[in-house]
Amino acid sequence: MDQVGTPGSPLIELKGVQKHFGGVQAVRNVDFMVPAGTITGLAGENGAGKSTLLKILAGLHQPDAGEVWYYGELQSGLTPASAKKAGIAYVAQELSLFEDLPVSENILIGQEPMRGPFVDRRRLLAEAQRVLDLVGSEIDPDMMVRDLAFADRQLVEIAKAMVGSPKVLVLDEPTSGLRQAEVARLIGLMKDLRQTGCSVVFITHRMGEFFEACDRMTILRDGTHIATVGIDEVTPGEVVDLMIGRQLTDAFPPPLQMEPDAPTGDALVLHDFSVHGTDVASVTVSLQRGEVLGIAGLAGNGQTELLEGLAGVRKAGGGYQVGSVAGPFRSVRAALKAGVALVPEDRKRHGLVLAMEVYRNLTLPVLRTLTRWGLVDRTREGGLVDDMIRTLQITPSDPRVAAESMSGGNQQKVVIGKTLLTEPDVYLLSDPTRGIDVKTKFEIYSLIRRLAASGKAVVLVSTDLAEITSLCSRVLVMASGRVVAELSGEQITEREITRASFAAVAA
Ligand SMILES: Nc1ncnc2c1ncn2[C@@H]1O[C@H](COP(=O)(O)OP(=O)(O)O)[C@@H](O)[C@H]1O
Ligand SMILES: [Mg+2]
Repeated sequence: MDQVGTPGSPLIELKGVQKHFGGVQAVRNVDFMVPAGTITGLAGENGAGKSTLLKILAGLHQPDAGEVWYYGELQSGLTPASAKKAGIAYVAQELSLFEDLPVSENILIGQEPMRGPFVDRRRLLAEAQRVLDLVGSEIDPDMMVRDLAFADRQLVEIAKAMVGSPKVLVLDEPTSGLRQAEVARLIGLMKDLRQTGCSVVFITHRMGEFFEACDRMTILRDGTHIATVGIDEVTPGEVVDLMIGRQLTDAFPPPLQMEPDAPTGDALVLHDFSVHGTDVASVTVSLQRGEVLGIAGLAGNGQTELLEGLAGVRKAGGGYQVGSVAGPFRSVRAALKAGVALVPEDRKRHGLVLAMEVYRNLTLPVLRTLTRWGLVDRTREGGLVDDMIRTLQITPSDPRVAAESMSGGNQQKVVIGKTLLTEPDVYLLSDPTRGIDVKTKFEIYSLIRRLAASGKAVVLVSTDLAEITSLCSRVLVMASGRVVAELSGEQITEREITRASFAAVAA
């Protein structure tokens, strides 16, 4: 491939760009440069303005002020289509695929190869296969997107961006749902691109990935450019300090003492539990109140399905006891009534009604208990909502804003708050911190500690191994729907979990 630019020469320059939404100044007078042949990381807490900056760069937002330059030329009236045409490929944080179209058509939508007036199916498939191979995806291009897991959808989005061989690949949190091997593969692709003089800009919430992939990093805080540094000039700790503007000592809060009046005993007992229509079977475990049980394993080995079976989302069979109530539950409502609540993985699809106000989202599951003679007790509702906003430090703190206008971290807090209001005994958390910022992560970890100390039981599924090893007192490792290892105490290390996951696959 031809060199795209002399290494170091700017492919893109943003000068003094600004963008506000209503009263929120999302990006303040930011300069940002993308040199040829580099991988640039963009770091900052949730709401720091990262996505907005990249959307300006890719023509999705018009800046209120400032200039966008591509290859030394000032751009005006940039649109997503003209950016793409100029070789700037952008993958948004939010997935944008069509559920009811096959993968191949999603990848080439709007740029289908034609033969006369007809779409050339053979070339379409070949091109889809080429870009899927590039990102290391093994999914069948004929599959419908609706049948894909989150990680596979993310790979399809990236594959789609690779159509037309972009000069600058812009990725907004591409790895949030990816499995370790896929992340490694994606970073490999980024480095291949760099080799040809192309550049990559990417956002992640996993600090390690910045240090593995990037040559340089830009840090934003509160819409402002804080620093741009070579990766060799900083440590991960320093980057975190720049992001949050204060010292953060520990990424994980220590366990708390059990509260003296906290209930004890079995919270949940499973015997030969199975989930219909999945390969989850023969799960036998008992969970104590006050315990945080981790469910680990390579993604896609039944962890999510197990939680869904427990929460009444999927039909299940076998022995299942919650306190004195016998499961399995036929509905989410029945499970909630017994005290089991799921905080789902994909908050955009399952956790929230995005267009609705925060207070409505929060009280949706408890509305019945707030209703007398067909009327909602607005005073009690308001009290509960205010408490929750304060407890979880939800921002903005106005309960009347729509959930969709909040940052990802705050949306996740609303999903958790909604669950807290139902006062369950057992919390099923599916990747609760995926794609959210360091500070909010820490707050959620602290909340998990508080729940455990008050006698609740927590089941934690996470793609972040550090989260599992730091928070859980016991860990089940799953492979192909079965529990292949149970670890506790000193055995709970990233190494041991990984070993158990892979040993099971090889067997
Ligand atoms: N389309 C939008 N409408 C209203 N507010 C928005 C919109 N997009 C972003 N914001 C606000 O702008 C700020 C920066 O958001 P964003 O760029 O998404 O941050 P980041 O990607 O760093 O988490 C946040 O306060 C966010 O709520
Ligand atoms: Mg963002």
